[in-house]
Amino acid sequence: MTRTGESTLVVRALNKHYGAFHAVRGVNFDIREGELYTLLGPSGCGKSTTLRCVAGLEHIDGGDIAIAGTVVDSSAPPVFMPPNKRDIGMVFQNYGIWPHMSVFDNVAFPITVWRSKVSRREVVRRTEEALAAVKLDHLSGRRGTELSGGQQQRVALARALVARPKLLLLDEPLSNLDATLRESMRMELRRLQKNVGITTLFVTHDQTEALSMSDRVAVMREGVIIQEDAPQEIYSKPSDLYVAGFLGRVNCFAAKVNTVHRDYVSVQVGSGTLHARSQRAMHEGARVVLAVRPEKMSLRQGESSAVNSLPGVVAEVSFIGEAVDYRLLVDGTSVIVRENARVIFPVGTSVRIEFDVDDGLLYEDEVAAAKVSQVSAVDPADGKLETPRTTDTPTTTPMRNQQFSLRKTATIGQST
Ligand SMILES: Nc1ncnc2c1ncn2[C@@H]1O[C@H](COP(=O)(O)OP(=O)(O)OP(=O)(O)O)[C@@H](O)[C@H]1O
Ligand SMILES: [Mg+2]
Repeated sequence: MTRTGESTLVVRALNKHYGAFHAVRGVNFDIREGELYTLLGPSGCGKSTTLRCVAGLEHIDGGDIAIAGTVVDSSAPPVFMPPNKRDIGMVFQNYGIWPHMSVFDNVAFPITVWRSKVSRREVVRRTEEALAAVKLDHLSGRRGTELSGGQQQRVALARALVARPKLLLLDEPLSNLDATLRESMRMELRRLQKNVGITTLFVTHDQTEALSMSDRVAVMREGVIIQEDAPQEIYSKPSDLYVAGFLGRVNCFAAKVNTVHRDYVSVQVGSGTLHARSQRAMHEGARVVLAVRPEKMSLRQGESSAVNSLPGVVAEVSFIGEAVDYRLLVDGTSVIVRENARVIFPVGTSVRIEFDVDDGLLYEDEVAAAKVSQVSAVDPADGKLETPRTTDTPTTTPMRNQQFSLRKTATIGQST
């Protein structure tokens, strides 16, 4: 593989089997210098396997991996560089802090093995610097057993950074923390990553974590990267309903294409006409799915002059502080709308649901919707794909075995 200049990590056509099971199927991605790149996907989709291949903890079956311009793995000609030679730092879900050692010794460990290369004074200097970066300098004498979850996480990070690696690998590093700590560590980790400027591969099943921390997010499914983009792009322009539902909730309306215009498509939903954008060419008469996120819809009473306006009745109101989640009935089926809490419409109120043409996304057919229903609405206990794990209680209407008709709608995905 040639040197790639700006990319610190290059993964090409990566394949990994466990026996007959094909866990990673031809995965390609590059991580640019200083970037935080996230692999996001449901349990078992191959995120950790990909990261472990990059780390050299797994032997690959096909493809190439290069770190900072050096090929560390290749199937042809065969190359395998062991993990300790790869210039990487790692933090896993289980932080692996040595309980009998002090915070200082835990963090210093990776560079004490370099004793022949660096002086004791240099080890101390670098360890203190790493501890200061994670704001643990005041606890350097504490034992591993005397630390909170958040402090352990920081020790693990400092230990991963102390050798100043080219690439940091983080596998669900926040998932052991409680919800409040997780939120603050999210921001702290992001700040630290930017301050240190370290190129980072981050793995998570949590869409909020992925969207809030990453420069770019890659959504994985069954060993394949489906879409890769900046958080705002991937959230607002998901390439299919699976990605849309994985990144947040989305209302789906079964629709039929009426007319295709240059910059919008007019579709029939029930007895109404709605306008939306399509990323792909649509043909008239095609059965499609119109998807709109709950927070992109708004409610009003009385007449509506909006292009996209549907009549609905408030069926449930859930006040969550900074916002209100409504479940509305449109033609007898549920639509979720998230509104600001300035005015609250009580149950039974007749309203108009409005949304902008730019916020209506069109996807090709009902088959795509059926696939999403299997992913987003199936219980882990069913032995199929698990839903993204979030701390919030989903307030969606599951699409289990739901067949689309022109009169049916459904909400998929997770509450954020
Ligand atoms: N050592 C192994 N032997 C056999 N199968 C494995 C092994 N490690 C992982 N797998 C399988 O490979 C698939 C991908 O696993 P992986 O750990 O990469 O998933 P993941 O996306 O990290 O999921 P999670 O969010 O649960 O951590 C899973 O189906 C898993 O059961
Ligand atoms: Mg994993």
